[in-house]
Amino acid sequence: MYLDAEDEKILSGEFGETRQKMMEILVALGRVYNAEKLVPIASAQVSGASYKTIGKWGLEWLSTLDARVAVPTVLNPIGMPRDEWRDLDGITPEFAHQQEAVLTAYHRLGIRMECTCTPYYLQRTEYGEHLAWSESSAVAYANSVIGARTNREGGPSALAAAIIGKTPFYGLHIVANRRPGVVVEVEAGDSLHADHYGAIGYLAGKEVGNRIPFITGIRPGRDQLKALGAAMAATGAVALYHVEKITPETRVFTFETEGLERISVGLQDIEDLFETMDVDAVAIGCPHCSPDELREIGDLLTGKRTTKPLLVFVARSVARDNQDLVAAIERSGAMVVPDTCMVVSPAMDHYKAIMVDSGKALAYVPGMCGALARLGTRKECIEVATS
Ligand code: F3S
Repeated sequence: MYLDAEDEKILSGEFGETRQKMMEILVALGRVYNAEKLVPIASAQVSGASYKTIGKWGLEWLSTLDARVAVPTVLNPIGMPRDEWRDLDGITPEFAHQQEAVLTAYHRLGIRMECTCTPYYLQRTEYGEHLAWSESSAVAYANSVIGARTNREGGPSALAAAIIGKTPFYGLHIVANRRPGVVVEVEAGDSLHADHYGAIGYLAGKEVGNRIPFITGIRPGRDQLKALGAAMAATGAVALYHVEKITPETRVFTFETEGLERISVGLQDIEDLFETMDVDAVAIGCPHCSPDELREIGDLLTGKRTTKPLLVFVARSVARDNQDLVAAIERSGAMVVPDTCMVVSPAMDHYKAIMVDSGKALAYVPGMCGALARLGTRKECIEVATS
């Protein structure tokens, strides 16, 4: 892999041990994937931020690093809301102490203390920009909805790219690798509801695996695309998808889909996922809510009181910039929770059954929280939480 003179100096250790190690990670990745060079990135998003997922060995490694990030960088959700962790059952002082230590280690590296899987709500991300993002739903959104270019980075490789300001040029950074490999035909016609997109993604992801799907038969908005991609990234390993006439690259390129495998998702398959089950909590915001979603939740809660815990997860900046919407939700007794989420926080681990409105959460809650998961529309979630 070609390295310029400065890259070579970093690799030789001239700019410190941490930058040397980070360059070694990028060079090793580049060799594995036959990258011809490194490419500058516009931003990074680093996973491995919750103490629940990285544990003491991850914290120990982070604490040894000594460098500054070279591009705007944010973190994936951590295991608790930074300032309000005492408001949540299930966060022990010991966990909070360790989580704080993780944040301190990242802060020393110059990473912005924003912990979210929706970094695109915080900083403008442009079509065609190269990124090093690691949370799978954020990767799918960046590639598919924005038309930016990022591979599905691991935490260490995203951090290495953030510190060096570059990433190996392979995979989805190369336009020729962004062509679809399978067609998904959604056959639901006008009966499709805005809240069905997580279910479509849940079903499609299982069939698609790590291929790039070209999806027909749907006309989603941005929030529905977010739900669709998050779920396909969870049940499959989808890092990029195209939706006919909707996502930007389908308007720029002509994709040849003749001869590709065709998978169909029907309305009955979608509706079958919305099964009924008693739950003891309701969680919304996987991925983190947009301002429009906060508004919808607030409207649905107008005049109601919660009878079960209802947690709504969001990026801290989005909550801060939309305090009226947050207040409208919290008037009902629901909690708007920044920085963390239903999967990476131990706060959900003591529930036995959790209702979610997200195909990704449906896939992850059982394994990560040890709880049963029930999928509902957002309206059903609010009804169950206030019934
Ligand atoms: Fe985000 Fe957590 Fe879901 S990181 S996509 S809210 S599992």
